[in-house]
Amino acid sequence: MPNTVLIGAQWGDEGKGKIIDVLTQESDIVVRYQGGSNAGHTVEIGAQRYVLHLIPSGILHAGKQCVIGNGVVVDPLALVAEIEELAGRGKRVDGNLFISDRAHVVFPYHRALDENRERLRQKGEKIGTTKRGIGPTYGDKAARTGLRMGDLLDPLFAEMAAERLAEKNKILGALGAEPIDTAAVQEAYAKAAQVLAPCITDTVTRLNRAIREGKSLLLEGAQGTMLDIDFGTYPFVTSSNATAGGACTGTGIPPHRIDRVIGVVKAYTTRVGEGPFPTELTDATGARLGREGHEFGATTGRPRRCGWFDAVVARYSAMINGVDFWAITKLDVLDKLETIRVCVAYECDGRRVECVPSNIRMLDRCTPVYEDIPGWQTPTRDVTRFEDLPARAKAYVERLCELTGAPLGILSVGPRRDSTLRVGA
Ligand code: IMP
Repeated sequence: MPNTVLIGAQWGDEGKGKIIDVLTQESDIVVRYQGGSNAGHTVEIGAQRYVLHLIPSGILHAGKQCVIGNGVVVDPLALVAEIEELAGRGKRVDGNLFISDRAHVVFPYHRALDENRERLRQKGEKIGTTKRGIGPTYGDKAARTGLRMGDLLDPLFAEMAAERLAEKNKILGALGAEPIDTAAVQEAYAKAAQVLAPCITDTVTRLNRAIREGKSLLLEGAQGTMLDIDFGTYPFVTSSNATAGGACTGTGIPPHRIDRVIGVVKAYTTRVGEGPFPTELTDATGARLGREGHEFGATTGRPRRCGWFDAVVARYSAMINGVDFWAITKLDVLDKLETIRVCVAYECDGRRVECVPSNIRMLDRCTPVYEDIPGWQTPTRDVTRFEDLPARAKAYVERLCELTGAPLGILSVGPRRDSTLRVGA
C-alpha cells in the first residue's frame, strides 16, 4: 500500500480537506506534519459540515488512526476544545488519536506576541497572520526555548512554563501588551494535559513500525507551497515547511518510504492574508469567484483574495514537491464563465519570467501573461466521470496539466464526496 504525501500547491485553501477525506478511505493512518490551529480543513459528510484545525480529518472515519506529528505546533486548549466539539457530535477520538511527544506547545504568550507584533508592523509589512501564535512558537522551537507535548506530562511542567512566562511577560510589556497570568496558564494547561495524556506518545516509532507492518500512511500538509517558510513569498508566509520535504522532518519517516506526492490545486487561485499575488482580480470577476466558491477563511472567516489560475506558481510547486499527479478542485466554480484566463508566464521589467522569483519586490512588479480559454457554461456538479465533462471543461483541465508538467489524478467538481472524479489515480 502506498505512503502518500498530500500538499497544497498554491497559497493554502486548495480544498485539501475534501481530497484527504476521500483518500483516507484507502489509508490506515492519517498524519498531520506541520502548522497548527492556523489551518482549517472543511469536510462535508451528508448534511454534516466539520471544520477541523488540528485533528486530521481522518478522525471522521471509523477505525482510522490519526497522528499529530512532531512538526506540528499544538495549542493544547484549542485541541481539547476540538476533541470536545467532536465528542458533542458523537465522534470520539479515544484510541484513534496520537500526538507526538516532540510536537511543540503553543502558549497564550505566543498568541499575544503574534497579535502584538502584527499590530506594531507598519502598513505594507503586515503579514495578516491568523493570530494563532504560530510564528512565535516555531521561533521558540528554533531558539531552543520551546516546550514540547511530552513536557506537558512532566512533573516540572508548571515550573518550566513559569520560567518562560517570566521572560515573555517582559517582552509583552515592552510591546505595550498586558502580561499573561502565570497561575491561570499553569492551571489550564494541567487540565488540558489530563485530557491529552492518553494520546501523547512516541509517534515516530509508532509510524515507522506501521510502515514495516505494511500499513498505508497519508501525510497531510496544511497551508500551501507559496506559504512555505523556505519556498513561499517570504516574509508573507507561515513559519513551517508546508512542502513535501516537511512530511519527513515533521513525522520522522525517511524520504525513501514516501511512494507518491499528490499536489492539490484549485482551478483558480486564492490567498488569505497579505503578500504578492500576481493573478489577483480586484474586479467583479474576482468578487464573483469569491461568491461562487464560498471563499472565506475556515479559521478566521476572512474573505479570500481571488484570481485566475497561475501556472507559474503551480509549475514551481510541481517541481519543489515532486508532484506525481494533481488533484484539481473546485472546477464547478468556473462553470458559468464565458472566458477563463490562465497565467502562463510573468512579465517583469520588460522581460518574460517563467518561474517564481525569490525576491518579493520583483514578484510584486510581475504582471501575468494570460492565455484565454473558452468557458463551458454548463453545470458540472453532477458529473461523476471525467469522460462526461463538457469538452471545453476537459480541454481546460488538460491545458492546466500541460502547462504545469504533471498529470491529472483526481478532479473535484463539488463539495460532496461523490463529486470527486478519479482519473487513473
Ligand atoms: P500564520 O500561519 O498564522 O502565521 O499566518 C501567516 C500567513 O499564512 C498569513 O497570510 C495567513 O493568512 C496564512 N495562512 C495560515 N494558515 C493558512 C491556511 O490554512 N490557509 C490559508 N492561509 C493560511
